[in-house]
Amino acid sequence: MDLGLKDKVAIITGGSRGIGKGIALGLAAEGCHLAICARNPAQLEAAATEICAKKVEALTLPLDVTQPDHVEQLVQQTIAKFGKIDILVNNVGGNRRGPFEKTSDEDWEAIIDLNLMAHVRVSRAVIPHLREQKSGVILFISSIFGRESGGANLSIYNTTKSALISLAKIMAVELAPHHIRVNSVAPGSIRFPGGSWDKRCLEDPEGMKAFVAREMPLGRFGTVEEVANVVVFLASERASLVTGACLNVDGCQSRSLI
Ligand SMILES: NC(=O)c1ccc[n+]([C@@H]2O[C@H](COP(=O)([O-])OP(=O)(O)OC[C@H]3O[C@@H](n4cnc5c(N)ncnc54)[C@H](OP(=O)(O)O)[C@@H]3O)[C@@H](O)[C@H]2O)c1
Repeated sequence: MDLGLKDKVAIITGGSRGIGKGIALGLAAEGCHLAICARNPAQLEAAATEICAKKVEALTLPLDVTQPDHVEQLVQQTIAKFGKIDILVNNVGGNRRGPFEKTSDEDWEAIIDLNLMAHVRVSRAVIPHLREQKSGVILFISSIFGRESGGANLSIYNTTKSALISLAKIMAVELAPHHIRVNSVAPGSIRFPGGSWDKRCLEDPEGMKAFVAREMPLGRFGTVEEVANVVVFLASERASLVTGACLNVDGCQSRSLI
């Protein structure tokens, strides 16, 4: 199946490692040029080397998406290099675990800024370019814990990830007349070297073995490539009727019926 992504231009926030890098490599394999951002420049450059090996161009932007002026730079520099933007993948995200009563305003503000406001600002800055060309795709990397309860100690993460799914749906309605599709993706537990699940597996192998047996019907964690494959499809014209949706990529880990 030709996905029609050759010579498209995509921005991936947090494209230097983990799921974001997997998505960047998946899009690059289809001939898409990439602008990737993250705070650590060395990891960004290493990711760009892998991307360029797929014979596409990569723009690396070492910046912090929680800073509004950095968001402006991200979009302006992508336009300056490539002259257009076709796809935005809002991937950056993080977590502060803890009992709700112990969470501080600072905890809430930091994660709302990272998991929600960064995506709001990047999307708002990209939309005029998509509207002008009368096409485009915006994707949000949420979580299965945005669709259903992740349990204790996840109030901030769960709340912000649910907000992303709501935001994507409303944006999809508003932007449909401009031929801009907006969807969210809800990964389950994804393991990759150096990632949060990898660290937990190394710290507590027996506990994590029990977690997989109990929570993961496929008997294993997901991979970044499995998330990337779904994102690449959603970014492509083959998903032309898919907008306002949230797709689980979780090996049936989640329990929600919707
Ligand atoms: N891994 C999972 O099991 C899982 C499951 C469900 C959903 N998700 C979601 O998937 C997304 C990616 O997860 P991941 O596990 O791949 O995360 P990760 O390993 O922590 O990678 C996050 C990426 O974002 C960048 N980043 C973080 N803060 C940033 C900031 N303020 N400005 C610019 N870049 C920033 C990081 O680079 P720097 O640190 O250098 O900035 C890195 O490239 C997140 O939204 C996460 O919530 C993950």
